[in-house]
Amino acid sequence: MNKFFISTPIYYINDIPHIGHTCTTVAADVLARYHRQKGDNVFFLTGTDEHGQKVAEAAAKEGLTLKEFCDKVAPRFEEAWNKLNISFDFFIRTTDPRHEKVVSDFLQRIYDNGDVYKAKYEGWYCVGCEKFLMESDLVDGHCPLHPPEKTVWKSEDNWFFRLSKYIPEIIKLTENTETNYIFPEGKRTEILSKLKSDVKDISISREKVEWGIPTPWDKTQTIYVWFDALINYYSATQFVENKKEFWPADLHLLAKDILWFHSVIWQSMLMSAQLPLPKEIFAHSFYLVDGQKMSKSLGNVISPQQLLDTFGAEGTRYLITRSFPAFNDSDIGIARFKEQYNADLANNLGNLVSRVAKLAEDLEIKEENFVFDNDFEKALSNLNFDEAIQLVFTNYINTANVRLNLDTPWKLEKNNPKRIEQMDYLVNNLRKAAFLLKSVIPESSKRIEDAFTGIIKPLEKPLFPRIIL
Ligand code: MSP
Repeated sequence: MNKFFISTPIYYINDIPHIGHTCTTVAADVLARYHRQKGDNVFFLTGTDEHGQKVAEAAAKEGLTLKEFCDKVAPRFEEAWNKLNISFDFFIRTTDPRHEKVVSDFLQRIYDNGDVYKAKYEGWYCVGCEKFLMESDLVDGHCPLHPPEKTVWKSEDNWFFRLSKYIPEIIKLTENTETNYIFPEGKRTEILSKLKSDVKDISISREKVEWGIPTPWDKTQTIYVWFDALINYYSATQFVENKKEFWPADLHLLAKDILWFHSVIWQSMLMSAQLPLPKEIFAHSFYLVDGQKMSKSLGNVISPQQLLDTFGAEGTRYLITRSFPAFNDSDIGIARFKEQYNADLANNLGNLVSRVAKLAEDLEIKEENFVFDNDFEKALSNLNFDEAIQLVFTNYINTANVRLNLDTPWKLEKNNPKRIEQMDYLVNNLRKAAFLLKSVIPESSKRIEDAFTGIIKPLEKPLFPRIIL
């Protein structure tokens, strides 16, 4: 049995879950479910990032203590994922004392390995990104991704990590095109060119941020929130029961905004701690909403709840997977989602399933044993969900629709062998489509399988009710 450990980023809890977080989480869920369907032993990890200045500021704004604030807002993510039928195996919170213990031990290993030293840090820091910025990152004197007041000048004594020591090894890993150390290709080359510029050591502790894990050898400082957060992937395997053998991770899934942290900083930390490295890192692109970056000030943030209210869990999962920004930013919008839902799910798949179930009522059609098609598997392993789904439509659903209209089985008597043969083709096409789409729309696939197992029965309710535009 193969093991498969897949992770999503752990999301900052100061924000409410939006469609960006949802897209990474749904994509990870599709892969986790697909691997389980193939018989792999899967560990699917997601969670929340709860330390750092950003969270501390959000708590202060609401007049809550830090712990109260975290306990109030962290469950929003877990609840959203449950409503979307996300099959995570563990939900990690960085304020879990078991995680904090692993982080402390990890840092101590890096320290004992001689990779930590004290120095003064001075520079611009973006609280929104929770990272130091270079002069060249600034636009009009502040971080272009966050409001101006989030960029602050910091000058303090910090502990530094010898990141530069590991850069030659990271370059070698990144240059090796035989592996998916970083994929897709465009993201690999971006990191490679950044690696070849002058990479400096990084500060890994904070003097004045109290909301964090104390640095083990110097309790006057707290561990930089990113160091603490990245270790979640490893810590979960250490403290969750029976998960030790899952390290190293098979796939870290995230977006381009945090690829440097995952492909360079995290790997260097692991090398320093002498632990095995994750096998693959996939960095997808971003959703744009009607052509614009999603932002609170523009008021165009789409929440998973909004999608659930309109499309249900299955419709939402389908639309997200279909529009997944694997390689380039992808423009989405509610109006387009409605059209796509009606076209693909209500009018095409849903309608076809109802028609075939009705025509095949009371028949018993021999069941086939299905395997995954190579082109479908290849598309999925490249996270090309759009292509994978289109293959299912082209090869099974659309062909069945065409055949149904050409064959016109309703003109023949129910027991006519020709009609039974026609139904055999249609029913098995739909069973196969359900088999392939199971990881994307698990509940609907199950309803299709149930309708077409044993004596065929019509569906009680439409699979995907049409949405009035
Ligand atoms: N807490 C850190 C991650 C630590 S992981 C050890 C963080 N959190 S975050 O809440 O800002 O989440 C960032 C991630 O959310 C992105 O990498 C991506 O997975 C997802 N997305 C956020 N906005 C997005 C879009 N507009 N489009 C697609 N995904 C986006 O960074």
